[in-house]
Amino acid sequence: MAILKIARMGHPVLLTRAKSIADPKAAEIAVLIENMAETLEDAGGVGLAAPQVHESVRLFIYKVPGERVGTDEEEIGLTAVINPVITPLSQEVTMGWEGCLSIPGLRAAVPRYERIHLAGFDAQGEPIDKEISGFHARVVQHEADHLDGILYPMRMSDFRYFGFQEETVKYDFPLPKIELQQE
Ligand code: NI
Repeated sequence: MAILKIARMGHPVLLTRAKSIADPKAAEIAVLIENMAETLEDAGGVGLAAPQVHESVRLFIYKVPGERVGTDEEEIGLTAVINPVITPLSQEVTMGWEGCLSIPGLRAAVPRYERIHLAGFDAQGEPIDKEISGFHARVVQHEADHLDGILYPMRMSDFRYFGFQEETVKYDFPLPKIELQQE
């Protein structure tokens, strides 16, 4: 087990499309997942994608802690997703706050699909096939974007809702209630 170095915005690995993982059951993938879990625990976030630890492969880990669970969602323990495929289940998009371990100290309101279908493989190499919504769906979309070289500022629709974590939490200004329609 090892704590890995996290790439920060500006490093080209974060702008690179990551490669598919040929064998989700490979031993080196299991080691990478373990090290990413230890790194996430140390850094204190809810998600981490392999490119953030300088491994340009299609894998991320995430969790949905109890304090972030919405009304019709459940707490999710640490989960790995390999070679994810995300399909929006409706055009409904909502705004929510996001941070990123590669953009420390900042956060922003980002539009994301409210409901998605997630396919891929888990840490045991077993298929994932499920519908998710709310904060759970938001985290998965954020992490999957990392595998395509996309950081959350590239998804923003209104840069007024971009600031330092400490300041935006202190003033806690409300997010726009509008639901944007993505093309
Ligand atoms: Ni991130």
